[in-house]
Amino acid sequence: MALGESSRSDVKERAELCHVVIRSAGALALEGFRRVAKGGFTMKGPQDFLTETDAASEDHIRGAIMAAFPDDGFFGEEGGGEIRDRVWVVDPIDGTANFARGIPHFCISIGYIENGITQFGAIYNPALDELHFAMLGQGATRNGITISTAATTRFDMASIELGWSTRIPNSTYLGVAEALLTKGANVRRSGSGALGLAYVADGRSDAYVELHMNSWDCVPGMLIVAEAGGVVCPFTKLGSLRHGGPVLASAAGIASGVSEAANIPLALGKAVVSSINTGARTQVA
Ligand code: IPD
Ligand code: CA
Repeated sequence: MALGESSRSDVKERAELCHVVIRSAGALALEGFRRVAKGGFTMKGPQDFLTETDAASEDHIRGAIMAAFPDDGFFGEEGGGEIRDRVWVVDPIDGTANFARGIPHFCISIGYIENGITQFGAIYNPALDELHFAMLGQGATRNGITISTAATTRFDMASIELGWSTRIPNSTYLGVAEALLTKGANVRRSGSGALGLAYVADGRSDAYVELHMNSWDCVPGMLIVAEAGGVVCPFTKLGSLRHGGPVLASAAGIASGVSEAANIPLALGKAVVSSINTGARTQVA
């Protein structure tokens, strides 16, 4: 077998490990959440929170994956890492600002990519014990039950999450918020982009938009949305695994309107395909 070509059973083995490790990291994170004291965080930058549990969770996940698959690449939010043909992208806690302030809306997000194609993605919210999971071509589930995106077609009934960060100018975000509101949508923000995507996949939300996200925040969730019948943008064609890019994931019935409001194109096919290692920076501002 040529380098970089895994059999389905190799992917399945990794998916099984992912299920185990995401739940054990979730238990570790929940334990840290229960102990988190007021002000028990430091800042990596403006509105960018860090707790001890972020690093502990990433170390735990990295250790388990590297022990089982030492030749795989690992790219995590806290420790970075190497992007290889086979690579895991890991957010040890997404929604750290919520976590640090005692709000139980955070998760662990893990994706596995081979030659630029996401093979599976998992998002686990330990506070609700909810695991969203998708394997390429096999549909999406929440705690093992098949999920699908909402059937919404009207903006005056739509609820859309818009995430933002200091990485893109406020004026650009305000323009997108205004365009979505003008179409009649309710616009929300809950502070975990990964859970925002999971909620599109299971129909709790109609779309998630953010003008720049890092791959650990969105690659797993975008596969889960696509496998649940939603429409996504071609994330790594617009940006890259290393530097991130714009994110749009939507129920099919409103996807073109969301794309127009956010000025983010939709992917043509269903596959979440990427050209990794290009390192190209996204031009969305
Ligand atoms: C952030 C959250 C937030 C999103 C940001 C992310 P973090 O990740 O997902 O909702 O808007 O783009 O950086 O800092 O909680 O891991
Ligand atoms: Ca994150």
